[in-house]
Amino acid sequence: MPRRLIIDCDPGIDDAVALCVGLFAPALDIVAVTAVEGNVPAEMASTNVQTIIERLDPPKIPRIGCASPGNNLDYRDARFVHGKDGLGEVGFETSSHHQRKPSEKIICDEVKADPGNISIICLGPLTNIARAIQRDAAFIENVDQLIMMGGSVAGIGNITTAAEFNIYCDPESAQQVFDAPVKKILIPLDITMQVHFTLDFLRELPDKTSRIGRFLREVLPHLYRNYRQRLGQESVHIHDVVALMQLLEPELFELVSMAGQVEVGGELSRGATLFDQRSKRQWPNNMDVARVVDVTAVKQAVLRYLDPQLGF
Ligand code: BDR
Ligand code: CA
Repeated sequence: MPRRLIIDCDPGIDDAVALCVGLFAPALDIVAVTAVEGNVPAEMASTNVQTIIERLDPPKIPRIGCASPGNNLDYRDARFVHGKDGLGEVGFETSSHHQRKPSEKIICDEVKADPGNISIICLGPLTNIARAIQRDAAFIENVDQLIMMGGSVAGIGNITTAAEFNIYCDPESAQQVFDAPVKKILIPLDITMQVHFTLDFLRELPDKTSRIGRFLREVLPHLYRNYRQRLGQESVHIHDVVALMQLLEPELFELVSMAGQVEVGGELSRGATLFDQRSKRQWPNNMDVARVVDVTAVKQAVLRYLDPQLGF
């Protein structure tokens, strides 16, 4: 039976690539895609989820959840990476929302309707999960697994020196989720940044006769241009698709049980993740963290999932 999954995301080009994989993977039944403010402001994240699903037209149309503005007064978006519209400035037609249910309501409703059988993958800030916990006290214990892209074990950030973007956007929500009584898997920056998608990846994508191929060939070149101009790099990181691969191909990752917390104060370190690695640990373990990844196999698997003709 396909695994029932909610994708909570802030598209964002790498979120869009993850949706291309997730919405067509035979092993997954995507019950909902919920938007969260992060790479782009709330309204734009909701529109982008709708746009992506319409462009891809997957075999099963999931429910869509709309984002509302986040909690963090210091919030800055990441359109300097993903383009003014968050999807590479291709100029997609803006879709109209058919329904405007808040993401956290959709998340609570779906979990309540099938307790213990729904996993959630969080590809953006953890705002919606924290709000779902506040909305329904029974919610979190009925989630099968929470898979999260975020944080950094080495303490090297990508939005500040110390903080990874998803956690930085809403540290209080992240801390609340880290503390929540549910099985959690974290795919941190230390792992996603080992996977360099070079220009070969762009060339090997399915061609424009497939919907996935057409969409990605429109959107991804922006990310390559951006990395070249901003960082002088010829390859890109597609963080969120690497996180989704942990769920689809878990044998490509090595997990270690760890104790993680979020710095919610701190002037320079707000949004940093800390892990108790003392020889005599004092914090209780609260999540499994990916520490090793088979980089080559992950890249091959992503291409395989994007091109269903290559088979699974
Ligand atoms: C994460 O931040 C976002 O910009 C990406 O979409 C990814 O989820 C990487 O730090
Ligand atoms: Ca994201």
